[in-house]
Amino acid sequence: MLRAPLLAAARSRRMRKLVEVVPATRSVVSRFVAGSKTPDAARVVRELADDGLRVTLDHLGEDTTDAEQAATTVRAYEELLSALAADGLAFGADVSVKLSAVGQFLPAEGEKVALENARKICAAAEAVGATVTLDMEDHTTTDSTLGILRELRTEYPWVGAVLQAYLRRTEQDCRELAAEGSRVRLCKGAYAEPEEVAFQDKSEVDKSYVRCLKILMRGKGYPMVASHDPRMIAIAEKLASDAGRKADDHEFQMLYGIRPEEQRRIAGDGKTMRVYVPYGDEWYGYFMRRLAERPANLAFFLRGLATR
Ligand code: FDA
Repeated sequence: MLRAPLLAAARSRRMRKLVEVVPATRSVVSRFVAGSKTPDAARVVRELADDGLRVTLDHLGEDTTDAEQAATTVRAYEELLSALAADGLAFGADVSVKLSAVGQFLPAEGEKVALENARKICAAAEAVGATVTLDMEDHTTTDSTLGILRELRTEYPWVGAVLQAYLRRTEQDCRELAAEGSRVRLCKGAYAEPEEVAFQDKSEVDKSYVRCLKILMRGKGYPMVASHDPRMIAIAEKLASDAGRKADDHEFQMLYGIRPEEQRRIAGDGKTMRVYVPYGDEWYGYFMRRLAERPANLAFFLRGLATR
């Protein structure tokens, strides 16, 4: 019931100002966000690596219409990747990039700028043995993001992308991407989407997730199962085993701060578990989407405010 207003608030500048000025918000946010600076992210990567967990790092930010801001985001990823390399943590790491943070919405030639900026991040990742995955934003960006993915993969065939099971088109996108060398992170989807393009009922989204999983697990690519849902994880495990997959040809992924014990349990079972670690100052939109997807997260936030 609260999902729609919270997702609307995620895009409201007024709400953002209100939430950001509450002094206690920061400490609640820290459950989901690694910190604001590169060393904060590197420290969390080290802690997770010590527990056998891999990472994908997201330098927070989205929807920029400022070319300088987009260039700053690229530099932040470059700085992060060299800091990880200096600490011996870059090999096998991944960075998650929102194309809207690197220029996709710029009024002049946004897609071209986003492609060029994403190329720079891919070059920096390749130099240190890391990979890049393109996050997926609302449905108005899906074609553009998949188009940029195709361009990037001609030069960097290991670049991955996120597909969202709540979109009606996603089964077909899975078919097209379930090919040799292709890395697909399958999630349910976190934005407010209209009925014409997206399933609205949770059960419909779950059924779509399973159909997409079947396509990806039976295909030739590298499926990345991004969900905290025990049912989806159990089904993915069964489909992987039926398809004869081994621990190194697919992986499980969860968000930092969500079900941390389960993350460690899955890694402890000898499976590949990667944690999505966001860091940076632009946490508002990410944080509000986390509140929207689970009433317990909202309750945790409100309790945190009340007890301070
Ligand atoms: P869902 O929210 O339906 O929860 C199902 C069940 O999981 C719950 O009933 C509960 O059992 C368990 N669960 C969930 N949260 C829990 C918690 N906090 N504590 C305990 N149990 C919990 N979205 C997007 O649109 N674009 C993107 O690029 C990405 N990227 C991305 C990367 C990664 C690595 C992940 C894990 C997720 C994303 N997402 C995303 C977010 C995704 O679309 C989705 O909103 C969330 O993962 C929540 O969906 P779940 O599949 O976890 O199940």
